[in-house]
Amino acid sequence: MTDHTASSGPTLPYVLVLYYSRQGATKTLAEQLASGVESVSGVEARLRTVPAVSPVSEATAPEIPDQGAIYVEEADLRHCSGLALGSPTRFGNMAAPLKYFLDTTSGLWMNGALVDRPATAFTSTASLHGGQESTLLTMLIPLLHHGMVYAGVPYSETTLLSTQSGGTPYGTSHLAGPNADREVDADERRLAVAQGRRLAELALALAAMRSGRP
Ligand SMILES: Cc1cc2nc3c(=O)[nH]c(=O)nc-3n(C[C@H](O)[C@H](O)[C@H](O)COP(=O)(O)O)c2cc1C
Repeated sequence: MTDHTASSGPTLPYVLVLYYSRQGATKTLAEQLASGVESVSGVEARLRTVPAVSPVSEATAPEIPDQGAIYVEEADLRHCSGLALGSPTRFGNMAAPLKYFLDTTSGLWMNGALVDRPATAFTSTASLHGGQESTLLTMLIPLLHHGMVYAGVPYSETTLLSTQSGGTPYGTSHLAGPNADREVDADERRLAVAQGRRLAELALALAAMRSGRP
């Protein structure tokens, strides 16, 4: 799994697992999803994050975060074969730092750089009915504008039928609880790994489709 490595030209095709996480829950989900990506041979997972945004416009983040994945660069997105986008739920929607980064990607949109690449989303909430589905569905919208092919989690993953915590057909989710102290449980983990594996398989299939075009 590429984590603290600098962004360089692509070697193996990779799925970009791009997340924001304040308290660590979405980060844990990202790591599970990345392990699912890497269970498919011929694809790597590239974990990246985004800096927090500040109300003080002069504030700048350190170039390298204290912990976790390094910050994403446009090139990470430009060259990815697939994208998994993860955010904590904030009032039923994605967190501002992730949206802030996406709002810098109009150059990729104008060039159609992400057209026909698969994408998925994942989230974490404090409460069970606190907006997991609305967050996942609204995270999908900018990805569709980019021409990406959205892949959720199919019900052939039967854990979806029995989970008592996170897990939706729109993407993996985690119930962190009101004190943010619930661990990612076995059902949530299983679904995240399956989601990563599916995204990696779709990344290879769509890459073959694109390269077979005249
Ligand atoms: C500004 C703000 C808004 C939030 N809105 C929601 C919400 O709408 N529904 C919910 O269940 N939890 C909400 N939460 C809680 C987070 O989604 C939850 O703690 C999540 O697990 C944090 O993920 P992280 O550990 O990756 O930072 C909110 C938290 C903050 C700080």
